Amino acid sequence: MNHIFHSISKIIVLGSVVFFVVTCSQHTAFAAKAKEPYDSTKVTYKADIAPIMERSCAPCHFPKKDGKKKPLDTYTTVKDKIEKILDRVQLPPDHRKHMPYKNATPGFSAEEIQMLKNWARDGFIES
Ligand code: HEC
Repeated sequence: MNHIFHSISKIIVLGSVVFFVVTCSQHTAFAAKAKEPYDSTKVTYKADIAPIMERSCAPCHFPKKDGKKKPLDTYTTVKDKIEKILDRVQLPPDHRKHMPYKNATPGFSAEEIQMLKNWARDGFIES
């Protein structure tokens, strides 16, 4: 009788361990899954960067809109000027070199600045 009781408690302990391991691995699987949207959502020039550039940096940097400043209206111009762009948009809004110039248009949010950095980090995906 005592022997059977001992076996049962062994099974319970073993069962708990299995349960624990399974729960943890599921949790890890879930965590990995939750991360996926971030990894698979690549920042692209076409979908993400061009729209915010146009919203904030046109017309001045868009020659087709009669902008007279250095063009920032194409993949290549934005890519080539990424460092200057990031410098300018991160200056305090009252700094004379801050962009958008004199806050004439809505500036970039912290999320948008991070998006530009991620775009550069991931190798400037065009589309
Ligand atoms: C209202 C017009 C206007 C808007 C909008 C504007 N800029 Fe400018 N930008 C200027 C002017 C004027 C200059 C030249 C004066 C200076 O360098 O500060 C300039 C210069 C720059 C330069 C330096 C160019 C170079 O090659 O030396 C960068 C980079 C720049 N802007 C980025 C931006 C970005 C990014 C945006 C959008 C977030 C933006 N600008 C929005 C007017 C504008």
